[in-house]
Amino acid sequence: MSVTVLGIETSCDETAIGLVTVLNDSSSLIIDEKISSQIKLHREYGGVVPELASREHMTALPILLSDLESSIGNLKNKIDAIAVTVTPGLKGCLLIGANFAKGLSTAWNKPLIAAHHIEGHLFSAFLNKKVCKYPFLSLVVSGGHTELVLVENFAEYKVIAKTIDDAAGEAFDKSAYLLGFPYPGGASLSKCAQSYTPDYYSKQTDLDFKLPKVMRDSDGFSFSGLKTAISLLIKRHANIVESDKAHLCYVIQESIVDTLVYKTQKAFTEYPNIKSFALVGGVAANEKLRGELTDLCKKNQVEFYLPQTKYCTDNASMIALVGGLSVLAKKPFQSEVTARFSLEDRI
Ligand code: KG4
Ligand code: ZN
Repeated sequence: MSVTVLGIETSCDETAIGLVTVLNDSSSLIIDEKISSQIKLHREYGGVVPELASREHMTALPILLSDLESSIGNLKNKIDAIAVTVTPGLKGCLLIGANFAKGLSTAWNKPLIAAHHIEGHLFSAFLNKKVCKYPFLSLVVSGGHTELVLVENFAEYKVIAKTIDDAAGEAFDKSAYLLGFPYPGGASLSKCAQSYTPDYYSKQTDLDFKLPKVMRDSDGFSFSGLKTAISLLIKRHANIVESDKAHLCYVIQESIVDTLVYKTQKAFTEYPNIKSFALVGGVAANEKLRGELTDLCKKNQVEFYLPQTKYCTDNASMIALVGGLSVLAKKPFQSEVTARFSLEDRI
């Protein structure tokens, strides 16, 4: 048995639609997808402006839908259901997507499936392949969420560590903003860090560019303290030359990555039966983090799964995938549009 699902994603600053076929054995195939990023629109404000984002979703959705129909022909006859992100996210943005999906569902007489955005990220590592064996551990590192989730089965989640205040993506973006990179600066900061080669003989500079080890004893992820330490460090070195900027980016990236790796090792130690691990979300595109976690998984003899880079950031194919998996597993996600919804409450 298989289902072909049209996924719709508008939770933040990416408008996306995707068509995915999901099979009973949990394998999937992306048929086509369209995405429109709002990054340029929000750049001048240094962050997402919710009202502008909602309006842009409203403009972009019909255009993407007609693009998709131009590529693959009549959609109505190709789909079994429509899945749409209803949580978590910016409420106005979610409402635009949900109402658009509701309209299509009524007009085409197709079932409407609610989807959880973070659940979408969790399974993004398995797009175009089979979901790995349960249970698996996942580190979700998106712009607004940093969570370690134990996936016991589809729709059965235990959140081992969650965001208390700021997420890793926010720490990257805020640091990047302070260093003058355009929004969202995570990827630019990381690129700049790559141009620095650690010089183990320049002890003086290393001492100057030092950040505290954080979150060693706490249960959740709290990046606000590190963010403050980073901003003080950047202010102390306000007059640095361009070559030192790369060094500063390097130290900041090391510090954020080190925290994520430390917490993941802690989870591997606490849950020794875990044999598979997925790194997902926008920050999963970070090469340093990918490299460190590859090594960590090898050390712990854990299979490492990563989404293709384009599926780290928000996309609609991951929403179609979880929509399809929920139909096949007969585990629908029942929620109205809401800004917050813990994965643990997904039943
Ligand atoms: O998952 P995502 O697309 O959006 C949310 O659902 O929040 O994640 C976006 C986040 C931003 O904070 C962005 O700066 C960060 O992912 N990001 C990166 C890299 N690429 C994207 N952070 C660090 N290194 C990267 N290469
Ligand atoms: Zn996301």
